[in-house]
Amino acid sequence: MKGLFISFEGPDGCGKSTQIKLFADYLKARGFDVVITREPGGTPISEKIREVILDPANKEECDICEMLLYAAARAQHVAELIKPSVEAGKIVLCDRFVDSSIAYQAYGRGLGEQVEIVNGYAVQGLMPDITFFLSISAEEGMRRNKKTDKKDRLEQEALAFHDKVHEGYLKIVEKSKDRMIVIDASKSVDEVLEELKEKFEAFEARKALAK
Ligand code: TYD
Repeated sequence: MKGLFISFEGPDGCGKSTQIKLFADYLKARGFDVVITREPGGTPISEKIREVILDPANKEECDICEMLLYAAARAQHVAELIKPSVEAGKIVLCDRFVDSSIAYQAYGRGLGEQVEIVNGYAVQGLMPDITFFLSISAEEGMRRNKKTDKKDRLEQEALAFHDKVHEGYLKIVEKSKDRMIVIDASKSVDEVLEELKEKFEAFEARKALAK
């Protein structure tokens, strides 16, 4: 029995974590076995790598090191948690995945296509069945993010960086239309959740038809 792998993407402050919890409750109420996880992180090794990547004290961390650490954390996450869970028939909800590396490292940091090559190696062919892209502008994301006082190394970047990340996401949406579903995240929490459910049910209907 094969489960499903669903990733959530979007700029900092788009409300992913809130929506993932609510969407998981909806799936659980429908009887699905759900795993919630996040990147960078999700396993003990990957969480340790996360600390190194995001620590604001690590100012020397060069862009290539950053990109490789995200990919290293991801390789462990796929092998230890995501792949076995999907193979066991579970629905895995993952807060960020490869698309974050394309948006933040390839576009934001300007590392280009190397990022896709490295990540292809890290994930060993496992890509999400659905990716929900919670779309808000970089400005709105940064405005919402001001509410939290402790910002990590990436969140401390200036608006110009977050604009490039946003541009990267739009390119990914264009390129991966088969799995990307764009959700207007400027709406209320309830409206965004309703749209997630609607789009998921449409996906289920398409899958049932294809059988
Ligand atoms: P996350 O914990 O999801 O932060 P937030 O809750 O603010 O979305 O991710 C931490 C930061 O790491 C976030 O600024 C995005 C960045 N990131 C990358 O740059 N590349 C990646 O591959 C991933 C997974 C995250």
